Amino acid sequence: MTTAEPPVPPSPTSPRGGVRRRQCALALAAAAAACLAPVAVLLAVLVLAPSLLPRLLLRPHHVVPYVATAELRLLAFDPAASAVAYNLSATLRFDSPCLYCTWRYAELRATPSYAGQKLGAAAELPEITQRRGSDSRDAAWAGTQRVPPGRRARAVAAALAREEAEGRLGVRVAVSTVQNGARSDFACVLSFPAASVPRRSGSGAAAAAVFDGGRCVDAVPREI
Ligand SMILES: *[C@@H]1O[C@H](CO)[C@@H](O)[C@H](O)[C@H]1NC(C)=O
Repeated sequence: MTTAEPPVPPSPTSPRGGVRRRQCALALAAAAAACLAPVAVLLAVLVLAPSLLPRLLLRPHHVVPYVATAELRLLAFDPAASAVAYNLSATLRFDSPCLYCTWRYAELRATPSYAGQKLGAAAELPEITQRRGSDSRDAAWAGTQRVPPGRRARAVAAALAREEAEGRLGVRVAVSTVQNGARSDFACVLSFPAASVPRRSGSGAAAAAVFDGGRCVDAVPREI
């Protein structure tokens, strides 16, 4: 049997009182944070806006190139030599951004890569001074690119095997140019039907896989 005792009121120093005070303090802190957060955001906007707005509104306008067409006449990896043999050409098109302006593309370069491995050196293309309409530049790359044996070589071989199974081979072309004085970089993905890509040089007269074209995208330099 237990004897009923009157309940003891919690003293200020009792653990329960401490818990309540801590809860109170937490609630107060949460309320203060809730009030201050919008103020902090407002301050951040006020501080950053003058530097961000012009960049957003007056973003250096640049023309994104377009791959009009491309042909892949050879793409093969030789594991014994740890080298990729390639023969690729592409026509890059630049459409004028305005009716009555002069647009200048200087230092125009295009570099192909496969599975992160650059294929040869950049093709340096003649610069363009455009008044209206569109201008094109043809680029061609052919040769044998040695791939460092090990991780790099395995990555190239694995990408080839995977893409052949999937049916499309993707070659990237990094395009860089200086448009009216502003540097711009793009990545163009050229997608070819894997079955029609010759695997050996000289196999078949003019055998080539064709890419029907597509727009390039903005890229960070040397990202690919
Ligand atoms: C690449 O292909 C073109 C067109 O078929 C050919 O004229 C050229 O000789 C080839 N280049 C190499 C290095 O095989």
